[in-house]
Amino acid sequence: MASLLLLLLVAVSLGGTVAASARVTAVIVFGDSTVDTGNNNQIGTPLRSDFPPYGRDMPGGARPTGRFGNGRLPPDFISESLGLPPLVPAYLDPAYGIADFARGVCFASAGTGLDNATAGVLSVIPLWKEVEYYRDYQRRLRAHAGAAAARAVVRGALHVVSIGTNDFLENYYMLATGRFAQYTVGEYQDFLVAAAREFLAAIHRLGARRVTFAGLSPMGCLPLERTTDALLGGGGGCVEEYNKVARDYNGKVEAMVRSLRAELPRLKVAFIPVYDNMVDLITHPEKFGLENVEEGCCATGRFEMGFMCNDEAPLTCDDASKYLFWDAFHPTEKVNRIMAQHTLDICYQQGVL
Ligand SMILES: *[C@@H]1O[C@H](CO)[C@@H](O)[C@H](O)[C@H]1NC(C)=O
Repeated sequence: MASLLLLLLVAVSLGGTVAASARVTAVIVFGDSTVDTGNNNQIGTPLRSDFPPYGRDMPGGARPTGRFGNGRLPPDFISESLGLPPLVPAYLDPAYGIADFARGVCFASAGTGLDNATAGVLSVIPLWKEVEYYRDYQRRLRAHAGAAAARAVVRGALHVVSIGTNDFLENYYMLATGRFAQYTVGEYQDFLVAAAREFLAAIHRLGARRVTFAGLSPMGCLPLERTTDALLGGGGGCVEEYNKVARDYNGKVEAMVRSLRAELPRLKVAFIPVYDNMVDLITHPEKFGLENVEEGCCATGRFEMGFMCNDEAPLTCDDASKYLFWDAFHPTEKVNRIMAQHTLDICYQQGVL
């Protein structure tokens, strides 16, 4: 009887092991500044953050790595949670080689978008070139580890994608010419969703099987947008027009992801509702120990980001963990950790992991 029970217990625990997700081999990152771990340091763009106080709360001591924040970004926390290295290296960083990239690599570039024209605004890496780098990476991986091992890395990797805000805030609404003249905002959303679909199909053809695709945050609540609203005579609250654009776009992207999943059964892809997560932080800051959800920690917190957020700028806060935003555009490390956990939760719920 006892041995039967033991047998049952063993069977149950083995069943559990088998049901649990296969090991994640690497975290592979595409997108913009929300996930760029340092590629912009290596290219000729004014959009960079490789100077203090960026990186002042990095593990092991202050180190400006080109991450747009005071510390780590969501992919770093995702990697660490999956038993992989605590930092995902940037593909263009000469300090790392293919042996490092076999366990995680970032192709993201701050300032880029789904629309090729967005990358042109600040001379950053367009998304199609991120995909070219991915192809180049796979060639190097095959040369380094052999074809079978390289394929296993790609198949087992979690691909983290976060992109889209710049298409609206840096391109569509900033440049009164170009896309704004060409498309209504609804048409532009459709254009971006088609580009996102094309991108997902491209990385699927290259072997990606596990993917997370982040939706837009309530971008009307970014400190920079609140400040702009105040300057234009508004109340300095969240800009509802931008939030509505984000919600409408998110609905379209989520539907696209659902249809792609039906069309490509081997592709496990999850839409990450960043919007809801951020609204929760903004409306219930006390739940997360946050005290300021309207201004960034860096400098006045109202408009500074990139080169305006530097060590000469006065007023930078002492404790970034009380803030939702680090600069006028980017969340603090504390919030990045929360968003990473949220992403992983959705992955487990939806069978991506
Ligand atoms: C961006 O440019 C690449 C390379 O020229 C092209 O393949 C791709 O279709 C373009 N994407 C969009 C959304 O225009």
